[in-house]
Amino acid sequence: MTVTISPIPIVTADSKPCGLIVGPDKSILHRLLILGSLTRSLIRIPIRSIESLSHDVLATVLGLESLGVPIEITSDEIELQGVGRHGFRAPGHTINCANSGTTARLLMGLLAGQSFESTLAGDRSLSARPMKRLADLLVGMGAAIETTATGSLPVKIKGRALKASEITLPVASAQMKTSLLLAALFADGRTSIREPLQSRDHTERMMTAFGYDLVAEPDRWIRLEPSVPDDLEEEFVYEVPGDISSAAFGVVAGILLHKHTELKNVSLNPTRTRYLDILALMGVEFEATNVRDSFGEARGDLHVYGDRMDGPLAPFEITPDDVPLLLDEIPILATLALFADGTSTIRGARELRVKETDRLRCLAQQFTAFGAEIAEVEDGLSIVGIPNRTLRACAIDHGGDHRLVMAFAIAGLFADNTVTVPEAEIAAVSYPEFFEHLAALAGEHQITYQR
Ligand code: S3P
Repeated sequence: MTVTISPIPIVTADSKPCGLIVGPDKSILHRLLILGSLTRSLIRIPIRSIESLSHDVLATVLGLESLGVPIEITSDEIELQGVGRHGFRAPGHTINCANSGTTARLLMGLLAGQSFESTLAGDRSLSARPMKRLADLLVGMGAAIETTATGSLPVKIKGRALKASEITLPVASAQMKTSLLLAALFADGRTSIREPLQSRDHTERMMTAFGYDLVAEPDRWIRLEPSVPDDLEEEFVYEVPGDISSAAFGVVAGILLHKHTELKNVSLNPTRTRYLDILALMGVEFEATNVRDSFGEARGDLHVYGDRMDGPLAPFEITPDDVPLLLDEIPILATLALFADGTSTIRGARELRVKETDRLRCLAQQFTAFGAEIAEVEDGLSIVGIPNRTLRACAIDHGGDHRLVMAFAIAGLFADNTVTVPEAEIAAVSYPEFFEHLAALAGEHQITYQR
């Protein structure tokens, strides 16, 4: 599907809230499916529609089904029957993780401790991403894992009993941390894991809520005993909040379009909301209302007052400490920086080079094509804003990366002519309703689809 974006004529402030409901938080839902499978409970997860589910999450659903986990998806819920930690069965085929790095890495950890063999594969983009650095850590726990010669998928896993270990991660990565914590459930004693910087902590929160003996120390050591929790209810409902990373695209579009955007029931986990601090530094007003907590995860309604923007956006500085806490928001924050009055900088973001594309390279190339002045360094970017908001219309090259599709489509609204986004359906990897929401904010006539 190709989407054509027409330039916005004149932006006028609108204080009437534009309400958006984003799909369930991908990070939380991947973990709920996997940790839910390890319970013996029936877990019911309300959803708005099947269409609101990201393709990445569907890859985890299919992966678990091929391991014998009963999962049923209806128009209003996902129902999963946990099989217990020894209830998985050998898959009859290679598990296809599609584009989902989280599926591949989390399943690697889960499968490392099973009593059967399995193989994980992925699409072209996922098959180019690094798996060896995680495989090596799992091998250190006693696992038998083989990657390709280039250290990527397909990965062959011969499950076996694992050793209690003490592991320091080479990079801050929530996927690697979670994979190791899942493997640690099959170890013969307490495992301790430390990241160089704090990354998203959904796994720690969910394991604690599910009754595991997990301690997250202030010095970032996480210690997990492989004991079996026994106090979970036989059946329970887990309502997953909306994805705060998907919300960021609506938030930024709303700021640029001077709209009051209301994102209902989104995750407000503090390891995911650092981008809101950056927006505050740029001069954006927002507030969270109706904040509540469930299974250790904060959620609430986020109001972003783009309608109150009366001066130029201030540039930002993203430091290495910030990066793991706004990793997935860097493409859309970089897009916002295009419109700031000054130079924004991002440093410590080397990990972006091994995401769905080399995101630093792709952002630099596309922004240069839009007419901006960009400097690309090994671990970041400097972006000189164009506060008069006129980008040059140009060809879009998102390299098959869902977050770049969305970021570049939003930038395209401010080009001096129409901009065409090829393969726009890729947005569904994380945010299937993105273009509908963009049309709700920008106006239906701004966006035309050719299937
Ligand atoms: C994720 C962790 C992040 C993020 C990804 C989802 C997760 O990757 O980029 O989209 O759910 O654990 P890292 O493993 O690099 O932190």
